[in-house]
Amino acid sequence: MSKFEFSKPQSWVHEVLMPSFAQDWPLLPVERAEGAYLYTVDGKRILDFTSGIAVANVGHGHPRVLAAAQAQMMKFVHSSVGITLHETLLQLTQELAKVTPGNLDMFFFGNSGAEAIEGSLKLARYVSGRPGIIAFDGGFHGRTYGAASVTSVKSKYRKHYEPFIPGVYFAPYAYPYRCPLGQDDEAVIRWSLDGIQKIFDRLIQPDQVAAILVEPVQGEGGYVVPPAGFLPALRQICDEHGILLILDEVQTGFGRTGQMFAAQTFGVQPDIMAIAKGIANGFPLGATVARRELMSQWPAGSHGTTFGGNPIACAAGLAVLDIIREENLLENCRVMGARLLQGFQALQAKYPVIGDVRGVGLMIAMELVQPGTKEPNGKAAMAVLEGCLERGLLGYMAGLKGQVIRLIPPLIVTGEQVDEALAILDQSLAAI
Ligand SMILES: Cc1ncc(COP(=O)(O)O)c(C=O)c1O
Repeated sequence: MSKFEFSKPQSWVHEVLMPSFAQDWPLLPVERAEGAYLYTVDGKRILDFTSGIAVANVGHGHPRVLAAAQAQMMKFVHSSVGITLHETLLQLTQELAKVTPGNLDMFFFGNSGAEAIEGSLKLARYVSGRPGIIAFDGGFHGRTYGAASVTSVKSKYRKHYEPFIPGVYFAPYAYPYRCPLGQDDEAVIRWSLDGIQKIFDRLIQPDQVAAILVEPVQGEGGYVVPPAGFLPALRQICDEHGILLILDEVQTGFGRTGQMFAAQTFGVQPDIMAIAKGIANGFPLGATVARRELMSQWPAGSHGTTFGGNPIACAAGLAVLDIIREENLLENCRVMGARLLQGFQALQAKYPVIGDVRGVGLMIAMELVQPGTKEPNGKAAMAVLEGCLERGLLGYMAGLKGQVIRLIPPLIVTGEQVDEALAILDQSLAAI
């Protein structure tokens, strides 16, 4: 028998798990999960407005996902793609190609968001023959070396890991609330584009840049929604200089922004896209996606993986696509997202600690500040999140100082659940 009690995580987490992530919040011991709810070992029902950080988009334990995975499991569990093939892989490529933006129809399957980013960076460098990558301040792309090299959300994610891969340059992200030139769209976009121009002028000429890598909405960075013209402006720069545009849709994909991908929400066509998280509702899967004419230049043996495109995860992924379509979840995402955002706006009018509210689809955030200033207030955000959890709502933090509260409900969320979450937030804000 274990000397540790699962229901008391403080007694064992720090003994058996690496502290690099075991310090995370709130270490909730969960027994089971269903739909929008988590059930803890001590019998509490928690409204999960994190969805496992944008993973369980069609709700925890969706019966169709489970049935598809179970049926596949009984047939074939592992295929190391290339040595053997399985039919769900072919089906998933065909179904994904119907919903990816434009003509992105060739896939490298891996197991995670970070691996999808690695594939994107390696593909971009390989096919362009150029070394440079431009990424953005406040961006988060994962924890493996390449992904960490293009991540700049917090220096603690980088400390003691240097040197990173060379050839990475950071430009300012179009962050309206914190743009030094003002908050109107034109100023915010100019702030970022001027930064890119400075990189071209001073550091690396554009014909040496393989790719611009960007999150359509920054996730870890604080659910930062750029002005509508930002991504199209990046597309234009890429077209001018033969640079590839990589969208990191790891968090924004699979309906999260109200369209299947944020590329469609913002009307921009990427050359390469990294997808993961919601792709299989919790089964590990990720993919680098590109146009056939681009990805087919990647010769045999130049990239690969053992587990990528796992049959069970692919079967789950097929079910996810059906569910999003048949349960009309994009529409539900837009309607519920608007309801949640409106609720956030009402709270902002009531509580001066809320400096900004923003969001798209069901990525909704409030940025907490010292009232009357823009000083980030991570302490208040944590106190509110703790208050919410005590009252039965799980949300999550984001932003450089943890000052952003982000809500990421599953796309199946109901109006009643949204209203319940808003009432709990209201009480928790009042309590601080
Ligand atoms: C935008 C973005 N890219 C990449 C990643 C990395 O994904 P993973 O944790 O699956 O490696 C994340 C994870 O949170 C993310 O939000």
